[in-house]
Amino acid sequence: LGLLGSVQTVADPQIIAHRGASGYLPEHTLAAVILAHGMDVDYIEQDLVVSKDDQLLVLHDIYLDHVTDVATRFPQRKRADGRFYAVDFTLAELKTLRVTSRHAEQPRQVELTARQGGEMFRISTFAEQIALISQLNQGRGKQIGFYPEVKQAAWHRKQGKDISKLVVSALTEAGLNHPDAKVMVQCFDFAETQRLRNQLGLKTGLVQLIGESDWGNPESDYAWLQSDPGLQAIAKVAQGIGPWHRQLYQVENGQVSAFARMAKQHGLLIHPYTVNFDDAPQGMNFEQLQHMLFEKVKVDGVFTDYPDRISNR
Ligand code: G3P
Ligand code: CA
Repeated sequence: LGLLGSVQTVADPQIIAHRGASGYLPEHTLAAVILAHGMDVDYIEQDLVVSKDDQLLVLHDIYLDHVTDVATRFPQRKRADGRFYAVDFTLAELKTLRVTSRHAEQPRQVELTARQGGEMFRISTFAEQIALISQLNQGRGKQIGFYPEVKQAAWHRKQGKDISKLVVSALTEAGLNHPDAKVMVQCFDFAETQRLRNQLGLKTGLVQLIGESDWGNPESDYAWLQSDPGLQAIAKVAQGIGPWHRQLYQVENGQVSAFARMAKQHGLLIHPYTVNFDDAPQGMNFEQLQHMLFEKVKVDGVFTDYPDRISNR
């Protein structure tokens, strides 16, 4: 892994704006990116899926139902399962949709503005976000990085799309596919994480995401990934792990989990998701959650919808 020796690792916990500043503005929109950039985060996350015409879209779900008005705009394009899939639409069609928020508590004014169709509340592409963040970074000392996620590679393959290849090409074209670029690529599918590194020539930082097997459609054996051999396998191809924060500690006794301790022993960065003020487990308030993560587990960064509410900055 000599190639990866110079990938950035920093002492201060990194703040990763989860889907942009998505606690305040509709997720993954350019407006949410601009707000996150203004909050002086370290990275801005881009969940990626592919359109019919092979564009990389910054979108969390492979379908459009939850955050757009697709059902009223293109009612005839529903698949048999009742969903509207991004891969069935061209970018030009997708750009006509309005993006709204998943957070019910977002200010009503934001929702009204979004419904009125401001250009800032459209689906954005990875290329647009790279251009925007690069532009916002110009003339600044601190460069805010990119944290793209390869979403559902196996599903994309069934649709005839090689999402990982498109991601590596996009990074290469933007001059970002090198170990010193402030880029961390993430993926839940461990076979795909290995393919990105070993076959597709990804040279940036890489993070293996870890979920829970009962969340539905698990893309990896998450229990194995939390074991010593699993972490050893991850460390051969990646710089870090992106676990659910609850996997890192036991609420009942305040102990750091064996998984978290082993990850450190393997030299892996730990970037848990999604550390929000309204998502502390029962029995803990947000301050206690942050204390647990920053002082006890000693995580290297956190994904959050509310970057301004993280106190360890
Ligand atoms: O990528 C970290 C975190 O975002 C993983 O969960 O579902 O929000 O992409 P999700
Ligand atoms: Ca994500």
